[in-house]
Formats: sequence, C-alpha cells, structure tokens
Amino acid sequence: MTMPSGGLPPTIHHVGRVHHVAVVVREMDAALGFYRDILGLAPGPVVPIPGDGVRIAFLPVGETRIELVQPTDATSGVARFLATRGEGFHHVCFEVVDIAATLTRLAVDGVELIDTAPRPGAEGPVAFLHPRSCHGVLVELIEAPGGPAWDALYPAGFRAPDALG
Ligand code: CO
Repeated sequence: MTMPSGGLPPTIHHVGRVHHVAVVVREMDAALGFYRDILGLAPGPVVPIPGDGVRIAFLPVGETRIELVQPTDATSGVARFLATRGEGFHHVCFEVVDIAATLTRLAVDGVELIDTAPRPGAEGPVAFLHPRSCHGVLVELIEAPGGPAWDALYPAGFRAPDALG
C-alpha cells in the first residue's frame, strides 16, 4: 500500500493472511501439554516480553500460528484479562503490507486505535486496534517482512525468530 503524495492511503479492501491467533494461558508448560503434546504442534522458543509483562510462544499451524500468552506480571493487562475472563481467545493478528499507512486509513475510517504508530513486536512491527471498533475482538496488525516500518524499527538484517519463509 503506497500513499499518494499529499493524499490519504487508499481504502482497505482486504488484509493479508491471519498471521496468528493469540490465546491467554495460565501456565505455559501446562498449555504446551495440550498444544504440543496432544495436538502435535511444534512450538518455537518461549520468549519473555518484559515490557508487556508476558511470555509467549508461537506454534505454526499451516500458514498461520497460535500464539500462547502467559502473564508474568500480575499488574499487566493480560494478567487482568486472565483474572476476569479466564483462559481463552485474546486477539487475532492480520498481516498488512504497510502498517503506518493502514493505521492512517483506519483512523480516517473512524476506527479507534490503541497504537497510533507501529511498535516493535517479537515478530515484526505491530499495532493494536480497540475492540470497541472491532465488534468486541482485539485486533492486532503486523507488517509483512520487508515493509517500510521494518527499516525504522529494527537493525539492518533483523529477521523474525520463526518467520515462515
Ligand atoms: Co499477537
């Protein structure tokens, strides 16, 4: 998606694949007992994300992934989610070509943004949209590898830990 000079990014007619679906779990090892040992999925490494007070693991499924999210800090948003709603579905992440242009277009269309600019996620530049604007679903966007936000947010040569192809 390119921004015509002086104009707005074009209307969004489609997004790319579902990059991942995130599930909040109480205890990572117990959750892997289901997703890895019973379903037979092959998890990547368990990665701490201290800034968000969580640790995560991605499990590839076809062209998408399950993201397991375990809170490690009782004051984090995910910990509050777990305390009030229990384990379960947390967010869906769509892949887009140009995340900054997409956020601009969504704001024009009246979508409430949690992140007004892309920030570095574990797997690439990400931004969240408010569930109030998405029919109750927390939506994450991630920029496809090679997009413009990668150069701005990551050192040259950075590659997502378990990027698929
Ligand atoms: Co996510």
